Amino acid sequence: MKIETVGVLGAGTMGSGIAEVALMGGFHTVVVESSPEYADAGRARMLGSIERAHSRGKITDEQRESAEARLIVSSDLNAMEHCDIVIEAIIEEYTAKAEVFTLLDKILPEESLLATNTSSIPIIDLAVTTKRPDKVLGLHFFNPATVQPLVEVISCLTTSNETIALADEFAVEGLGKQIIHTRDRAGFVVNRLLVPYLLSAIAMLDRGMVTRDDIDLGMRAGCAHPMGPLELCDLIGLDTIKAVADVMHAEYHERNYAAPPLLKRMVAAGHLGRKTKIGFYTYD
Ligand SMILES: NC(=O)c1ccc[n+]([C@@H]2O[C@H](COP(=O)([O-])OP(=O)(O)OC[C@H]3O[C@@H](n4cnc5c(N)ncnc54)[C@H](O)[C@@H]3O)[C@@H](O)[C@H]2O)c1
Repeated sequence: MKIETVGVLGAGTMGSGIAEVALMGGFHTVVVESSPEYADAGRARMLGSIERAHSRGKITDEQRESAEARLIVSSDLNAMEHCDIVIEAIIEEYTAKAEVFTLLDKILPEESLLATNTSSIPIIDLAVTTKRPDKVLGLHFFNPATVQPLVEVISCLTTSNETIALADEFAVEGLGKQIIHTRDRAGFVVNRLLVPYLLSAIAMLDRGMVTRDDIDLGMRAGCAHPMGPLELCDLIGLDTIKAVADVMHAEYHERNYAAPPLLKRMVAAGHLGRKTKIGFYTYD
């Protein structure tokens, strides 16, 4: 089997970036959003990003035109009926993901792969909602997907070796990504290391022992990180961090995965970071 047409479900922070990576890899790319308005907004976000890459000289006229011609954006899930792989990147909620997995299982050709970009939901819980549990896997991209080279390739108890081999080839040869393999455990590899670090930074700020700017400067200037932890929280989205932390806390029962009170209050207030223009910082 050869992957030629890629479906991306959800055109938010991650989905729009993953779709752009697929377009730049030369794939026909079908993006589905939850409503015509969100589909239009997603299309505008992706085309705007491709346009910026073009104006910065990163892609040629031909590459831009070819990418635009290979993009289909819809609010109808049936638009994915010819996809060889679908990467699901909708909100981090089990019921929402399970519902679309069951629907996609009925729509897609039987040999197609179904991948999730989930950061924390057990992949086996999604695999068992389908009649193709051997073809379900995790492909965990990093934010922004157009910039970060890593993809975690995650197999759950039912994923076949053939599925992993095909996904590896797709991610490396097709998308030009670097991959690491891991099993279906909350947080996989990178978030299990990263999230406790981000939660510690929020807890320090919450206790009033240090300012926001000093925390971020500390890690930029002291550890050569390109961003401080609070800047990174705003980039990822505070709701996403809390959702991931809650799942890891429930799975491992370790205190370092517990969301600090400040994070809970900011999520309740809708101060989610860049996507709501206010988080630890404010954005125009
Ligand atoms: N934000 C990150 O840094 C990051 C990194 C890696 C993985 N992830 C994971 O990627 C997924 C998406 O996260 P995000 O940050 O892009 O979220 P987001 O809120 O920016 O985007 C989610 C999008 O999904 C759409 N959507 C919701 N239900 C839908 C449906 N039924 N059909 C089609 N579209 C639907 C929403 O309209 C929204 O545009 C989550 O599972 C998250 O855990 C996020």
